[in-house]
Amino acid sequence: KPIAILISGRGSNMRALIESCAQPDYPARIALVLSNNPDAPGLDVAREAGLAAHAIDHRPYGRDREAHERALDAALRAAGVEYICLAGYMRLLTPFLTSAWADRMLNIHPSLLPAFPGLHTHERALENGTRIHGCTVHWVTQGMDEGPVIGQAAVPVLDDDTPDTLAARVLRQEHRLYPAALLRVLDPAGAPVPNAAASLLSV
Ligand code: GRF
Repeated sequence: KPIAILISGRGSNMRALIESCAQPDYPARIALVLSNNPDAPGLDVAREAGLAAHAIDHRPYGRDREAHERALDAALRAAGVEYICLAGYMRLLTPFLTSAWADRMLNIHPSLLPAFPGLHTHERALENGTRIHGCTVHWVTQGMDEGPVIGQAAVPVLDDDTPDTLAARVLRQEHRLYPAALLRVLDPAGAPVPNAAASLLSV
């Protein structure tokens, strides 16, 4: 199935999806990578992997979020995309894009939703005294970080964690979870992707 990945920054989750899509039996191929940020380092990663990767800068559209989304939508349709994976895409979406791609758009979020929607999840988890943290892949709906869960992976919070050490532990699981969750969406009957975190990975 042709998919698109939308990024705004470094694109490490995108890279994990690129690696999975390179495996012959994985049922997705990346038709397009889009970024709202022309300087996103992930764009170079995608191009080095031989993928079509374009920036559609949101700034010329000013406050008209929907006009920017119409440009994204046109590019996605022109590329024949069937599913969208948001991977560190840092723009709030309007009902235009969420309804146009309902049940066909996934997001990864660095917490065990519904805990800690929004930004700064690792700082907030530490402040809160949370002992189990993690990441979630979910369907995108209009409410930010609110759609139904597809899969989650959990990590322990250690006593000496800083936001950075905790973020790194979660990120390793993000890179396992996203390809596994996408596989589950595209091939619900397929075997789960085997990985070392299986006991903590639920998709
Ligand atoms: C990840 O933590 C993801 O969960 C969040 O933004 C971050 C993006 O990182 N939505 P990367 O660009 O995939 O490296």
